[in-house]
Amino acid sequence: MDRDHDLARARSLVAASSRPLALTGAGVSAESGVPTFRGADGLWRNHRPEELAHVDAFRRDPALVWEFYRWRRDRVRRCVPNAAHHALAAYGRARPGLVLVTQNVDGFHRAAGSPNVIELHGRLMIDRCLDCDFERDEDPHESGIPRCSACGAFLRPGVVWFGEPVTRIGDAFHAAAWADLVLVVGTSGVVEPAASIARVASRRGAAVIEVNVEPSALSSIADVTVLGRAAEVLPALLPNPA
Ligand code: OAD
Repeated sequence: MDRDHDLARARSLVAASSRPLALTGAGVSAESGVPTFRGADGLWRNHRPEELAHVDAFRRDPALVWEFYRWRRDRVRRCVPNAAHHALAAYGRARPGLVLVTQNVDGFHRAAGSPNVIELHGRLMIDRCLDCDFERDEDPHESGIPRCSACGAFLRPGVVWFGEPVTRIGDAFHAAAWADLVLVVGTSGVVEPAASIARVASRRGAAVIEVNVEPSALSSIADVTVLGRAAEVLPALLPNPA
């Protein structure tokens, strides 16, 4: 009953919006089978994400960090986008101005066909050189620590680590300042600067809808929190032109 009420309220905010922005996190891919970071199955061998997703960890023990990312890649390779990704892609077709800012590195928003995706935390399935600009697609059959074919330095996964500048942050904040609605989906809202994108938009007068299975650090700025799984809630919430 409460959820129906929240959903109806959220739907009316979506209908009233002409400049939407979506901010997504690991919860959007949870139903694809990709573990979240802070959920029960998110810990890898008892390491917190901050311990492995750091250049210092890589310099200290590149083999361990590669092992962690190869485990994540294996999981992602066995998964496909779910109804939440598809609902957001359809929303992007219904509202071509939609900007989708994601903290996810699995590439599922692009795979589902969302236009205008800003992948703040980079891409899991590419390798980048630690020292030069070299980039390549992953080689799923490789083991050990790969080396850059241009300069010989170690290759690392193409994700953004803690303490590193996120990708296209200027575009993301520009979209936040312009948006009249922010849809915050499946993120704990504890990692910056991603969380600030929603806060900035809210301060500039955008309505905030949150979709999450539980309240998060961003619930306090939400006009409405729809509690539920993204793959169930988003198809019910968002317009689909198909
Ligand atoms: P978290 O693991 O911190 O949070 C996932 C959120 O999704 C939680 O709030 C869950 O309640 C929610 N959730 C779980 N299942 C859901 C479902 N089916 N539907 C809707 N919501 C669901 O993941 P993020 O917020 O994405 O960064 O984490 C942010 C960043 O921290 C990540 O991008 C990563 C991590 O360390 C880096 O690696 C740099």
